[in-house]
Amino acid sequence: TNYTAIVLAAGQGKRMLAGRNKQFLMLDQLPLIIHTLTAFAKDSWCKEMVLVTNEQEHKQMEKLLQDYPPGMERIHLVDGGKERQDSVFAGLNAIQNTDLPVFIHDGARPFVSLEQLHRLAKTVEAEQAALLAVPVTDTIKKKDGNTLTTLDRKTLWAAQTPQGFEFALIYQAHQQAQDRGYYGTDDASLVEQLGREATIVKGSYDNIKLTTPEDLQKAESYLANQRKGKKE
Ligand code: CTP
Ligand code: MG
Repeated sequence: TNYTAIVLAAGQGKRMLAGRNKQFLMLDQLPLIIHTLTAFAKDSWCKEMVLVTNEQEHKQMEKLLQDYPPGMERIHLVDGGKERQDSVFAGLNAIQNTDLPVFIHDGARPFVSLEQLHRLAKTVEAEQAALLAVPVTDTIKKKDGNTLTTLDRKTLWAAQTPQGFEFALIYQAHQQAQDRGYYGTDDASLVEQLGREATIVKGSYDNIKLTTPEDLQKAESYLANQRKGKKE
């Protein structure tokens, strides 16, 4: 069940407050983005990878790939856009093998497992569109003006990445969004705009997106636990 992958690293990482793009932050001797690329490089089902960088960091990213080879022959490096969605579209336009489904993944999510990638690939093959997600653990309140209601937690899922799609389907969804100047919060939501649905594949709470400085501590402790597990 082969697939191609787009990994997004063209943001600025403002909420991380690191003074530079979080993708370059070191975690356990390796830059964050290298951890993420390695997760895909280790998967023999992943046949092509596009890494989306921002224009100003293109050279720096190229050098990073040389200094820390993630173990995949060739990774195409393309420049992203203003919003995440623009970066995804740039990535889609750079994919060469459009016969395979494509996984779209945040560079800031380094801990996606091989098992999750494979379950997603199988679901995309059967359903054309799927995403990793986990049940929401917090009680979510909805505030509409002065009216506060409590949403039924049993029906709520927190969307993660990767999200996987048949190439033609996600391309059409992005093309339509571009044409209409519509911005969605994730890729699956653009597919929903076409009247199609993505299928949820239950993921793991470990598949965090590193967003704020607190997340760095979580990541370090995750990696420390992994090291312990390997030694035992
Ligand atoms: N991303 C991108 N192009 C953009 C914006 C975001 O490729 N124009 C990528 C980021 O690099 C990140 C992923 O999309 O891997 C998820 O976005 P987010 O966590 O919001 O990262 P940033 O946008 O970099 O962070 P912030 O919003 O705090 O500035
Ligand atoms: Mg952002």
